[in-house]
Amino acid sequence: MRRLEQLRAVVTGAGSGIGQAIAVRFAQEGASVVCSDINLEAAQNTVAMLETPGLAFAVDVAIEGEMKALIAFTLEHFGGLECMVNNAGVGIAARVTDTTEEDWDRVMNVCMKGTFFGMKHAIPAIQHSVHPENTDGSVINMASIASFVGLTDRVAYSAAKAGILGMTRAAAMDHIPDGIRVNCIAPGTVDTPWVQRITSGYEDPEAARVAMRARQPHGRLVTAQEIAAMAAYLASSEAMSVVGAAMMVDGGVTAR
Ligand SMILES: NC(=O)c1ccc[n+]([C@@H]2O[C@H](COP(=O)([O-])OP(=O)(O)OC[C@H]3O[C@@H](n4cnc5c(N)ncnc54)[C@H](O)[C@@H]3O)[C@@H](O)[C@H]2O)c1
Repeated sequence: MRRLEQLRAVVTGAGSGIGQAIAVRFAQEGASVVCSDINLEAAQNTVAMLETPGLAFAVDVAIEGEMKALIAFTLEHFGGLECMVNNAGVGIAARVTDTTEEDWDRVMNVCMKGTFFGMKHAIPAIQHSVHPENTDGSVINMASIASFVGLTDRVAYSAAKAGILGMTRAAAMDHIPDGIRVNCIAPGTVDTPWVQRITSGYEDPEAARVAMRARQPHGRLVTAQEIAAMAAYLASSEAMSVVGAAMMVDGGVTAR
């Protein structure tokens, strides 16, 4: 499928896991993609995987000036922007009683502020690039099943991801008159380097991994490509009536 031929997109956290898979899928469908990540080398590695010419840009999503610079870079090189994917995120495995203020701030800054800054600076650029009557811009935020259900050891992360869900719905109402659809994806546990990092914090990492797999009703981890397929759909004109939605790609976790 080549549904994204005219699309100019930015993906944050594109150097690894889900963000990388989204950038690759968007390019397969014809989009031009700026791959941004706090790790420039990782972003460059993703660009090397793309079927269309892409660009890499180093950004810490938690710093407003850097997000502003990312959008300016995109406009300078692509001349416009139709789709912003606010994917970068970090988490920690901890209960409320074990969560330090520093961990709380880090998770909130990257997940919540990063998504907020991404929307704040991308939306005006998308507004200038699309014509509400006949073209379609969109923002895709990365939420989680943690936005919806209680998971053990994820208190700060759950707060941040529930915040992303709320921001998505509110921004969707504000910007649908501009022809911009704001949606989010709620992945279940996805097999990315992230899972290795989270499980390595447990005394028995293999047992933690088995437990993560077991909480998926379909009996396996979700793949990054399955999340990318949803992102490509949301970015495409096939999803023109999908507004303020949270698309579950979770193997059934939230249906339990
Ligand atoms: N893997 C899962 O099970 C899962 C489930 C639900 C939601 N998610 C969400 O999906 C998104 C991507 O997760 P992933 O599993 O691909 O993780 P990952 O750790 O494999 O990749 C995250 C990428 O984001 C980058 N990054 C981290 N902090 C950043 C910052 N401040 N600025 C810019 N880039 C930054 C990292 O360098 C990395 O390349 C996150 O928002 C995560 O919360 C993941």
